[in-house]
Amino acid sequence: MVLEPGTRIVIAIDGPSGAGKSTVARKVAQHLGYQYVDSGAFYRAVGWLMHARGVPVEDAAAVMACLAHTPLRATFEAGIFHMWVADACVTSDLRGEAAGRAASAVALLPGVRALITAQLQRVGAPANVVMEGRDIGTVVFPEAQVKFFLDASLAVRGQRRLQETPPGETPALSRHILEAMATRDRQDQGRPTAPLVQAADAQRIDTTDLTVDEVVQTMLSEIHRVLDGEGG
Ligand code: DC
Repeated sequence: MVLEPGTRIVIAIDGPSGAGKSTVARKVAQHLGYQYVDSGAFYRAVGWLMHARGVPVEDAAAVMACLAHTPLRATFEAGIFHMWVADACVTSDLRGEAAGRAASAVALLPGVRALITAQLQRVGAPANVVMEGRDIGTVVFPEAQVKFFLDASLAVRGQRRLQETPPGETPALSRHILEAMATRDRQDQGRPTAPLVQAADAQRIDTTDLTVDEVVQTMLSEIHRVLDGEGG
């Protein structure tokens, strides 16, 4: 790939929850000195906001009206990503499968997707960026120079989610985590607008039997292969 001097680089990482996207995306960004953006945090923040304001997520008009008055923004400083709703840092409220389900529900709304997509494109415009999500390589940055699609078996993805379950969530809830993840996958893959799908030009990595370092090394090799001119 021949890059004009000053070309902004986008590394897109998509895949279902628990495939390992966040962990490896952070490390790849750190290694390359790029900005890291967790696009799921934007959808989680919208779900959190609607819950906090008592807005039903099925009511698209009410959701959009609420968002019109409440700015969302992300910061990435000293290697730490934070999500803000108006002036409140909500990062620690966004973990867990319940927040993921709320995010997946608001992510069905085309208006919410259009708003967040435009915001992600603005966030990614000025800097080299590693962005992870569900539709980064297909919709947000279809022109991304390097795209990955990470996947893993449902059992392993569930195991990884269990390890991340915040203290507030009960073991009973944790036992249903596989079912909840499978339902969320189906919803993300089946929605009409920007469904979770592998981009035709994305490299698929099955992380089931790989360590984090192995995935990161595979990705860095591919990124160097493409950006250093051997990628066609
Ligand atoms: O990556 P995550 O688990 O934080 O994402 C939470 C939900 O947000 C996911 O189930 C679907 C939605 N999402 C999306 O629709 N598009 C994205 N680019 C990122 C997340």
